[in-house]
Amino acid sequence: MNNPPGFVQLSHAGVEQAIRDSMSLADSAIWLLDAEGMPLSEVPNLGMKTQNSFMLGDHRGFDRKTRQMTDEYGIRRISFGKTSYLGSHCVAAVISEYERMDR
Ligand SMILES: C[S@@+](CC[C@H](N)C(=O)[O-])C[C@H]1O[C@@H](n2cnc3c(N)ncnc32)[C@H](O)[C@@H]1O
Repeated sequence: MNNPPGFVQLSHAGVEQAIRDSMSLADSAIWLLDAEGMPLSEVPNLGMKTQNSFMLGDHRGFDRKTRQMTDEYGIRRISFGKTSYLGSHCVAAVISEYERMDR
């Protein structure tokens, strides 16, 4: 994506730097989407921060190094259930969850 739309932020700095950048924002939280994570319905404080970021794996998910690193940063894994969904479905599910909170 060489010329993303204005609402897309593109970084080539690597995943760890992206995590650091996101964590440096005031009142922010990062969550890792993982079918083996904590059920979304049981996650406390999901919508409490101003800036929530969600890490989404590619077709292979996350490699061991990334999982280890995100654990070291204390990033929690959250799940929509044991079924593995397409990434695009997970994006839609996150948006849907926040829309429900707004009601
Ligand atoms: C196509 S899935 C990856 C499938 C990959 N084979 C795996 O086992 O992780 C792409 C990404 O969507 C997210 N994802 C898929 N299903 C999920 C679920 N049930 N709950 C939370 N996140 C999910 C994860 O971030 C995953 O890395």
